[in-house]
Amino acid sequence: MFAGRNNGRPRRCIFYILAFLFSQFLFILIFLRSESFDNVPFRQQIKHDNDSWDHYLDWREFISYTSERSAKFYLYNLNLSNTLGVIRKLPSTRHYSCGYRPRKLPPPSKANVSVVISFHNEARSMLLRTIVSLLARTPEDHLHELILVDDGSQDVTLLNDLRRWMGGVFGARHRLGLQFLANRERMGLIWSRNRGASLASGHYVLFLDSHCEVNEGWLEPLLERLALNPQLAVSPVLDPIDPLTLAYRKGNELLKGGFDWSLHFHWLRRQLAEKELPEMPFKSPAFAGGILMMSREWFLKLGGFNSYLKIWGGESIELATKLWLCGGQIEIVPCSRIGHIFRRRHAFDFPPQSDAQETYLHVRLI
Ligand SMILES: *[C@@H]1O[C@H](CO)[C@@H](O)[C@H](O)[C@H]1NC(C)=O
Ligand SMILES: *[C@@H]1O[C@H](CO)[C@@H](O)[C@H](O)[C@H]1NC(C)=O
Repeated sequence: MFAGRNNGRPRRCIFYILAFLFSQFLFILIFLRSESFDNVPFRQQIKHDNDSWDHYLDWREFISYTSERSAKFYLYNLNLSNTLGVIRKLPSTRHYSCGYRPRKLPPPSKANVSVVISFHNEARSMLLRTIVSLLARTPEDHLHELILVDDGSQDVTLLNDLRRWMGGVFGARHRLGLQFLANRERMGLIWSRNRGASLASGHYVLFLDSHCEVNEGWLEPLLERLALNPQLAVSPVLDPIDPLTLAYRKGNELLKGGFDWSLHFHWLRRQLAEKELPEMPFKSPAFAGGILMMSREWFLKLGGFNSYLKIWGGESIELATKLWLCGGQIEIVPCSRIGHIFRRRHAFDFPPQSDAQETYLHVRLI
């Protein structure tokens, strides 16, 4: 009896040690899972057409037509962009709780989005990465259509090549609506966005720039907010992508957008209220960047962007003011992240005898 006890003690001891190690292992496993929740590989993301994965890799031919332009022309690292691949894994920059909180989303038939991308002299690799990251990281049911507007790019075969490439990748199986529009001459971002929105048929319209990479789960938090208030316009937090290294960094969720009496945009510090967490959606006087999403009907009812604004600049402040005056509201949603290249200066020319400010501060006699 005694002997049996003495034998049992070390065994029990080993059992406890093993049980302890196992529980630690389980704990680490659970922790890692919640950490990597946002980093599901791209391949698993495109459940609907796994077999077209090879097409995604096959972008060499498409980008090889990039015109003989230097990196100086684009003001970002073109060579690096061409070697990064059509999609890359991005770090998860939002708060970890954003990924596993259940979301109350309306059905896709009541909440789908038309994405409008207007571009002017964008490098092919950059434009394609914007599009593919969007298609790979957006729930298929909620993505109604993609409207691409070529605003007078010098690369004249770009739009047709893009049409062919996307046709090859998606074929007829995909029910995503695709529209390829070309302006006869350079009309500017504002005009192009209005044109895209007027041809859209989805419930919501999202205006996206052509040098972006959307991050995992970017759409759901925005849809959730819009479902609560149809007069809302929402914007993700923009994660800066470095123009030289193309490194993807975490954007600051403690900044909101504002402007002064000369209609210059300014970042304003966001003051957290008591019990307000940084990852919660917050109100902002203006959009912190040009990427925004709202009900298409509401956008058209507000008259879209003022069509007297030229090229670029001022449009988001103008829309913000109209929203205010007509009972709308802007919200920035930190659980939604979109990477965006912030260039040090404009990569394009403004019309002769004007600068950025003149495109929106000018007198018009009607
Ligand atoms: C980019 O690539 C081109 C051709 O492949 C090469 O001539 C050029 O030197 C490269 N530029 C940089 C900055 O690496
Ligand atoms: C998308 O939304 C529009 C407008 O609400 C609706 O007419 C259309 O049927 C929706 N599409 C799908 C596929 O549910």
